[in-house]
Amino acid sequence: MNRRAMEQALIPMARPSWNGEMREAAIQTLDSGRWVKGPHSKNFGQEFADYIGVPVASPCQSGTASLWASLRVLGIGEGDEVIVPSMTFISTATSVSLVGAKPVFVDVENDYWCICPKDLEAKITENTKAVIAVHLYGQMCSPIVYEICQKYGLALIEDAAQAHGASQVIDGKKMLAGAIGDVGCFSFFPSKNMSVGGEGGMLTCKREDISEKVRTIVDHGRGSDLQSMHLGSNLRMPEVLASIGRVQLKSLDGWVERRNQIAENYDLIINQTKGIQPPARRETVIHAFHQYIVVCEHAASFRKHMDENQISTRVYYTTPCHRQPIFSNHPQYEDTFPVTEAMTESLVAIPVFHEMTDAELERITTALGSYQLPI
Ligand SMILES: Cc1ncc(COP(=O)(O)O)c(C=O)c1O
Repeated sequence: MNRRAMEQALIPMARPSWNGEMREAAIQTLDSGRWVKGPHSKNFGQEFADYIGVPVASPCQSGTASLWASLRVLGIGEGDEVIVPSMTFISTATSVSLVGAKPVFVDVENDYWCICPKDLEAKITENTKAVIAVHLYGQMCSPIVYEICQKYGLALIEDAAQAHGASQVIDGKKMLAGAIGDVGCFSFFPSKNMSVGGEGGMLTCKREDISEKVRTIVDHGRGSDLQSMHLGSNLRMPEVLASIGRVQLKSLDGWVERRNQIAENYDLIINQTKGIQPPARRETVIHAFHQYIVVCEHAASFRKHMDENQISTRVYYTTPCHRQPIFSNHPQYEDTFPVTEAMTESLVAIPVFHEMTDAELERITTALGSYQLPI
């Protein structure tokens, strides 16, 4: 693309990384003829586990598959309730329904938009078995959520689909997303902070007592003797994708750093621009900036302005989970969650991806700086 065309091309919301080393890994894996159940998925699982600091991780077919598997390994099913934020991707909630349990929706925090500890504690009943804490947009949840789970003896599932490389200091120790809860769930969908050249996910686990289940759930619950000990399924990640993921993982920290650098550039401009505000950061957190969210006084005019400048924007999410048609028979379908509802009106995501060029970054900061609130 020539310079002029580049200057005018639409800047997308995301752009996955793809380079010679990934291509080489993919071709070598395909050439080897070992397309499933080989060394790459085994090593990718171990390398990812080592990266976040847990004993075990299982690559699988999607973030959704990892959520379903996480509930299965924790033995959650019929009659159980699982607390989830309503402001999240739909599969956080539908995974609960798919194992026969009931999702119980709660609001999110006003400042950071993760699950609200106060609302969460209020919704605990004798049937509550677990909480799915979503590290929304790449920022980790309040540590109070983890304390509540401990206090009430609830399992904690981290939905870290948007939080590869995010971390938080807890009791003086740096903890990566996916290493705090009983289990952690990641997605490698192409727009995520790291990807695998297709659909993919990872189930992580800090608990030795269920590590065998975590290892085998993706392969029909079978041990090495091919006896199915647990109810699992074929959720295995193909070797070619695992080989690409292994290469991507090596760059993850650098990519998160680049995302933070882009976010800092946006903060500087947005702080000087009327009608828009930058997203708040929790103290002692490294934000993974899967999304950079602009808080708008007038979202429609902001989106129009970015659109005129050929810059993509999105609203995550336009319909909260409890209001999705699939939950029209859910007892909370008509409930009002004030923060969740306000978010759909005022939060707008702008592009933040590690492959962004400096020229693209400049185009976006210029557009942010020239935004004017309608009179
Ligand atoms: C918070 C959250 N949970 C779960 C998922 C599901 O991941 P996947 O699309 O890989 O199934 C996503 C992906 O969009 C997500 O953002």
